[in-house]
Amino acid sequence: MAMSVFVTRRIPAEGLRVLSQASGCRVQQWDSEEPVPRAELLAGVAGAHGLLCLLSDRIDREVLDAAGPGLKVISTLSVGLDHLALDEIKKRGIRVGYTPDVLTDATAELSVALLLSACRRLPEAAQQVRSGGWTTWKPLWMCGYGLSDSTVGIIGLGRIGQAVARRLKPFGVRRFLYTGSGPKPESAAEFGAEFVPLARLAEESDFVVVTCALTPATQGMCNKDFFARMKKTSVFVNTSRGAVVNQEDLYEALAQGQIAAAGLDVTTPEPLPTDHPLLSLQNCVILPHIGSATYATRSTMAVLAARNLLAGLRGEPMPHELTL
Ligand code: GLV
Ligand code: GLV
Repeated sequence: MAMSVFVTRRIPAEGLRVLSQASGCRVQQWDSEEPVPRAELLAGVAGAHGLLCLLSDRIDREVLDAAGPGLKVISTLSVGLDHLALDEIKKRGIRVGYTPDVLTDATAELSVALLLSACRRLPEAAQQVRSGGWTTWKPLWMCGYGLSDSTVGIIGLGRIGQAVARRLKPFGVRRFLYTGSGPKPESAAEFGAEFVPLARLAEESDFVVVTCALTPATQGMCNKDFFARMKKTSVFVNTSRGAVVNQEDLYEALAQGQIAAAGLDVTTPEPLPTDHPLLSLQNCVILPHIGSATYATRSTMAVLAARNLLAGLRGEPMPHELTL
């Protein structure tokens, strides 16, 4: 079967090998660490049967039109799907593959690392050592908040949310709360987690961790009202998508001490401009969207994305296909 695929970025070699070794598969690639310029993307997909894309590629109607009716499969190197115009994709009968499960552990681990960095002020403290701010051991200096005996609120108790809770539990968390589109008794049982409305989660949590998908229902969900309900001693962590948060409201909450600290692995936009107000705050730890960034995870994601693409093109069940 002759088929052509377009890969929008340099990806781990293991994934590309799966594609280039598939018989009859002609691979075209934007072979760069930098994002494909829009014009190159539109030209690259023209006539392609398969598209392997990243979360930074907006796959909308324009791209689908540029691809033409031959496009059968879109395989994204991500668990998130908010960059894909799913309605349009469905209308055209295009199949979609993605990479859940394989990045759950790495992303949960990064969420915990970010939470600890924010609540124990690690980047700020490390900077003090370099800048000469460390003059002696001081009883009142560089104190933060610990997890022992705390209440943790998880927004989105999906695969990653559960993996975060599983990792946080041994730190001595007393109680887990969660919110989402509805109760998930089976997922919650392991942690004795209680399903609560968003407002109550904000009010009662010492730590809030956002691990939900970005959808119209979650967009801007963590806003002024939400932060105003949080405790002054609480810490907010987001490893899902930046747009779940109203960033101006978060800035105000942090600047005015309505909450103690925040850790963000995702922002709006990405990258965040280096003069962004959030970067002027000591109590905000910001990472460049590295949740799944372990060598092993990225390699596994690339192989899975390649296998999804090939299976879709061959009309076979994909290892991980989105139900549209
Ligand atoms: C990362 O954010 C992903 O969606 O895989
Ligand atoms: C801390 O280093 C202590 O000994 O209390």
